[in-house]
Amino acid sequence: MFNKKLEEALNDQINKELYSAYLYLGMAVHFESEGLKGFAGWMRVQAKEEQEHAMKIYDYLFSVDGTPVLKAIKEVPTHYEKKPVEIIQDVLKHEQFVTASINSLYELALAEKDYKTQLFLQWFIKEQVEEEENDRDILDKFKYIENNAGLLLLDSELGKRE
Ligand code: FEO
Repeated sequence: MFNKKLEEALNDQINKELYSAYLYLGMAVHFESEGLKGFAGWMRVQAKEEQEHAMKIYDYLFSVDGTPVLKAIKEVPTHYEKKPVEIIQDVLKHEQFVTASINSLYELALAEKDYKTQLFLQWFIKEQVEEEENDRDILDKFKYIENNAGLLLLDSELGKRE
């Protein structure tokens, strides 16, 4: 039987990943309504990745004789009274929250001496480095944007994400 504390914490993480997917999809709605289809596309890809993160944990739970629990997902905004740069700052803040959550999970796996879960979580630790880096890269580009033409150029670049 799988460790109950870890099973509960991993199920909480499934919820956080699905919430992240929802949060980014809400941002996609906002950007789409604002006519920034590149930002919207980037958010949709991000939302899809978050769903995949949730499914990775879902599959892992089955492989260790645990059971996924699908808790309620909180409602998210689909409109922001914020500039695009502020929304990307929110994304980075949210990813830092997810990183802290993965780190806590890892600490729990260490405390519980659950070696397989430690190994499993290493993928997520690496993934979070990449996620935060992507957000910082976008924020860096905002430093050079002085007008709407610059914003549209960034929009077109973000729209290339697959
Ligand atoms: Fe699944 Fe963006 O953390």
